[in-house]
Amino acid sequence: MDEIRIGIVGAGSAGNNHAGYISRGEVEDAELCAFADINPQHLKDAQARYGDHIKVYDSADELVASGAVDAVIVATPHYDHPPIGVKAFEKGLHVLLEKPVGVYTKQVKEVNEAANASGKIFGVMFNQRTRPTHIKMKDLLQSGELGELKRNCWLMTSWYRSQSYYNRGGWRATWGGEGGGVLLNQCPHQLDLWQWFCGLPKKVRAFCAFGKYHDIEVEDDVTAYVEYENGATGMFVSSTGEAPGTNMFEVAGNMGRIEMSAGNITFQRNRTGERQFNATHTSGMGKPEYWTCDVPVGGGESGHKVVTQKWIEAIKSEDSSLLVADGREGIRSLEISNAMLLSAWLDDWVELPIDEDKFFGLLKEQIAKSSYDNNLDKDQVMDLKGSF
Ligand SMILES: NC(=O)c1ccc[n+]([C@@H]2O[C@H](COP(=O)([O-])OP(=O)(O)OC[C@H]3O[C@@H](n4cnc5c(N)ncnc54)[C@H](O)[C@@H]3O)[C@@H](O)[C@H]2O)c1
Repeated sequence: MDEIRIGIVGAGSAGNNHAGYISRGEVEDAELCAFADINPQHLKDAQARYGDHIKVYDSADELVASGAVDAVIVATPHYDHPPIGVKAFEKGLHVLLEKPVGVYTKQVKEVNEAANASGKIFGVMFNQRTRPTHIKMKDLLQSGELGELKRNCWLMTSWYRSQSYYNRGGWRATWGGEGGGVLLNQCPHQLDLWQWFCGLPKKVRAFCAFGKYHDIEVEDDVTAYVEYENGATGMFVSSTGEAPGTNMFEVAGNMGRIEMSAGNITFQRNRTGERQFNATHTSGMGKPEYWTCDVPVGGGESGHKVVTQKWIEAIKSEDSSLLVADGREGIRSLEISNAMLLSAWLDDWVELPIDEDKFFGLLKEQIAKSSYDNNLDKDQVMDLKGSF
């Protein structure tokens, strides 16, 4: 196989970002060949930008049936990721879905099954997994140096958005167009990293405020408490209404605590594990001696094009283990955000795996009672009777 012929579904900001680095030749063995979009102007703009040789299609269906591409990147609003992925797999194409992989887990299982049935390569655009700090954090936690995990806390409040961001309208920040707010739009990267670092929790209790700081109907402020199988606890806080905000992750284990913030990692390393100290220390006050280590995070290329490059390499060698993130893992972070919304709607604890029919039913209720039309193009509103 020579160059992999790529089609992009969705010629908006994310689609154009991917098209840009591919058309500049920054991804080896990949060639940008086609675009599909429901907006004809976006297709004209794409041809003007990347050349008339780019084939354009006014639906994903036509693109995947065209025979013009070997693989598609899906960069439409989230609801459409799974159904377009399913159609592409059915036509024998490889698929890279933008994050989040979908809006509700019930829908995402369909694309996971289609990927399994096709045997084609399935990736998800979790580009933040390529950042050196995140790779080092994963490496540290996997090494076991921190000992048994006790607690973690992710404060992710640097997603500030003003009302004018939401006033631009379109599919964002409505139940019908997007299916959620900060959890679905801004946080999928952190939720993915959170589960990549610490695994999935078994129980979630979340408090979501809907339109607390903005005139929107979806959540713009979230505080969630989780419990893990081993008894460890975790907290995840996010908001689009806090400025300046912070992005700080802390994890405590038997051997100390690790803090990741502003691209730096600090490990306060106990010389003796706290559990051992607790069992043997006799003089009342005191705590284990600890050493503060600045962990070198290294460098290297990161970002969207690394994810795309690895996807191309996985396609060429027919080896999914080369992917930055296997598409089938996308459901894990979505399960957490679905659980947080479900917990807030029910005002109760939610166990994982969640009751996905209950979640889907409540999501449909939100859509049915929505009074926000947000200048939505009707083609971009979830069809309540639709199959997806
Ligand atoms: N990984 C990242 O860092 C990152 C960054 C930005 C956006 N995204 C994701 O990319 C996706 C798109 O976001 P965006 O900011 O580019 O949105 P956007 O509104 O700028 O672009 C979406 C495009 O999709 C088209 N479209 C809508 N429905 C379609 C359909 N059914 N078939 C074909 N085309 C369709 C629209 O006409 C538009 O051109 C979202 O899921 C978002 O979460 C990811």
